[in-house]
Amino acid sequence: MKATCWYGKHDMRVVDVPDPKILNPRDAIVKVTLTAICGSDLHLYNGFVPTLEKGDILGHEFMGEVVEIGSAVKNLKVGDRIVVPFCISCGACFFCQKGLFSLCENSNPNAPEAELMWGHSPAGLFGYSHLTGGYAGGQAQYVRVPFADFGPIKVPEGLTDEQALFVSDIFPTGYMAAENCNIQPGDTVAVWGCGPVGQMAIRSAFMLGAERVIAIDKVPERLRMAEEGGAETLDYEDVDSLMEELKYRTGGRGPDSCIDAVGMEANGHGVQYRYDRVKQAMMLETDRPIALREAFLACRNGGTVSVPGVYGGFIDKIPFGSVMNRAITIKTGQTHVQRYTRPLMERIQSGDIDPSFVITHRLKLEDAPEAYEIFKNKEDECIKVVLTP
Ligand SMILES: NC(=O)c1ccc[n+]([C@@H]2O[C@H](COP(=O)([O-])OP(=O)(O)OC[C@H]3O[C@@H](n4cnc5c(N)ncnc54)[C@H](O)[C@@H]3O)[C@@H](O)[C@H]2O)c1
Ligand SMILES: [Zn+2]
Ligand SMILES: [Zn+2]
Repeated sequence: MKATCWYGKHDMRVVDVPDPKILNPRDAIVKVTLTAICGSDLHLYNGFVPTLEKGDILGHEFMGEVVEIGSAVKNLKVGDRIVVPFCISCGACFFCQKGLFSLCENSNPNAPEAELMWGHSPAGLFGYSHLTGGYAGGQAQYVRVPFADFGPIKVPEGLTDEQALFVSDIFPTGYMAAENCNIQPGDTVAVWGCGPVGQMAIRSAFMLGAERVIAIDKVPERLRMAEEGGAETLDYEDVDSLMEELKYRTGGRGPDSCIDAVGMEANGHGVQYRYDRVKQAMMLETDRPIALREAFLACRNGGTVSVPGVYGGFIDKIPFGSVMNRAITIKTGQTHVQRYTRPLMERIQSGDIDPSFVITHRLKLEDAPEAYEIFKNKEDECIKVVLTP
């Protein structure tokens, strides 16, 4: 089969690899009908995630048709059309029973490596380095899905692939980011980053009752899309002080909650940005937490900072005194996707939202290397790319 493989920083290749096989009774093999490139894939593409190996198949947003099932999979049959959550979860362990699916303790065979880096190991993820299991991803013609009897959700009749695909990741991710804000009537939510995750977070914040959403980015077409979703926009390059502007817009108090939908590769300007770039380049810091620092400082007293943005390791100059003295709550995590698949699929069915609004580019799987470049450089006003095998 053809698959999109990582060969090094900025070196993706679509190559022929062996077809996946059923390895465990709870596996299924899925013929991918639609897949996407996520902002998280860019962290791999840009070389910020360790433990990738040449030839690793990437991709964790995918859906398709079941073509083979293991003997223990009773809820799916060959021919079913399913969307697959990006985190691999057994459904039965201590964490899965608590609904903390991205922390499943049965799906990361490389847990000892993750423990060295993070103290404890999270769940295995598709196509996301050997630290999270080394699983082959879904930017391919076929993919092996472990615990297929638990995670995947069947796509209801009448929904297109494009409408259903993002239940695998970015829709639940934006939704959990907003849910983590514990939004109360009248609340103002500020969202750093108007990429696909930020876009989903903006719409989810309104679904959960936010009165105002302030969307922060510098990319015009992304700010435009945020505005179409009902947000007020703020181009961070347009203002002298983002802090002052946010205070001004919120009666001096600050947003009730702040969502960092940017993560480890934040842009910016000035001394702080240069500091982070240099430290990151010298491997003295793994991530550039520019949006995160701002979110902490901007958030109103007693408010919540919700962090769907991905961080890999160690960050500097975090104003923890501000967090502590002003009683800020921090909520974060890889998304517990399986918690949201059913309710969010229902929201799509009922017409509350059609997540395909975010798609700007449709390419073939063979064009994945070009698609990565376009998405990374935001060429041609690219916001989200889907690939058809
Ligand atoms: N928690 C999860 O389970 C989960 C799931 C999916 C994605 N993610 C993460 O969410 C983040 C966003 O993903 P995406 O697909 O939207 O990525 P993306 O790269 O398309 O979007 C990031 C956006 O942030 C903007 N940005 C950069 N620096 C900024 C700054 N200082 N202030 C404000 N905006 C800034 C960029 O212009 C861009 O529009 C990534 O870190 C990704 O890894 C997390
Ligand atoms: Zn993702
Ligand atoms: Zn589990």
